[in-house]
Amino acid sequence: MNAAPTANVFGAVHLGYIVIETERFTDWRRFGTDAIGMHCDEIDNDLIHFRLDDQQARFVLQRGPAEDVVALGWHIDDHDSFEQIEARILAHGVPVTRATDNEAALRGVARLLRFPGPKGITQEIYAEPLTSAEPLRMLASGFVTGDSGMGHVAITSIKPAQLRGYFNTVFDARLTDFIDETISGLKLKIRFLRVNERHHTIAIANVQSLPIDPIRTRVQHLNIQAATLDDVARSYQRVCELGFDMALAVGQHTNDRELSYYARTPSGFEWEVGWNPIVIDERTWEPSTHQGISIWGHKPVGQTIIDKLDQFRLGTRSLARREDTVSALSGDGIPDD
Ligand SMILES: [Fe+2]
Repeated sequence: MNAAPTANVFGAVHLGYIVIETERFTDWRRFGTDAIGMHCDEIDNDLIHFRLDDQQARFVLQRGPAEDVVALGWHIDDHDSFEQIEARILAHGVPVTRATDNEAALRGVARLLRFPGPKGITQEIYAEPLTSAEPLRMLASGFVTGDSGMGHVAITSIKPAQLRGYFNTVFDARLTDFIDETISGLKLKIRFLRVNERHHTIAIANVQSLPIDPIRTRVQHLNIQAATLDDVARSYQRVCELGFDMALAVGQHTNDRELSYYARTPSGFEWEVGWNPIVIDERTWEPSTHQGISIWGHKPVGQTIIDKLDQFRLGTRSLARREDTVSALSGDGIPDD
């Protein structure tokens, strides 16, 4: 194997879009537009886009059976970093596929490369987002994207060290901090990784000392950052009034101090709307471990004993399920310090 090129791409990488595969278009349209308050563009019967800003697509919903996040799109700031990442993946012997112009256009980008990611989540990189001149028609006043990227995703894993290794190899991800938490009787450890000034773009949770994954979907939750506290409050109210399930009521996180709630999407994974997370100062930041995910709030809503038993049942099933981490890119992994 050739040595991977070494120029650092930290800071040049931003979460750019998320691809969701679903059959539940009617519910998703209501959820995204009427509850969360995003701009919706109907492309055709099998494809809708949600916009948060002038980028043509921040969420790409394509028809299919997964009811899950199937791909993450990463905006790379410049062509040098883009080529650096491509060279790195190839140097590790992992194939990179160039999407057709049409496929790239359906994601709202130009020049799109794809490569395999952990848990079957395809990773996609692009350097040129396509923007829309069409004004946003949405209930929210705005969302924070820009240098921080569009939010974050949280992934449960039975191989957390390998996931850290993967995102370190591909994007030079850095460890921001850890949280230890007990949820539904399970002791969890969560690692928060950043690829730019955003406190975290990837969170990786595992059940300590048990090789089980309690979550059916590849992504446990995703997060978008609302522009104002008022947007969080109003969208919370709309989620409730429209009858969508709330997973965790409003609360504030210990580590990034983000104030947020978690709704359940029509596909089953959770959707966090947050406000005002801290921004990392690279000159002074030191990783630490927090006890518990929340300073206050984030109380589970309507969770029954049946849900908890279901979680254990799914977890037991995961013992028999293989989790692919793309070992050529994850290497031996990065253990928790
Ligand atoms: Fe989150």
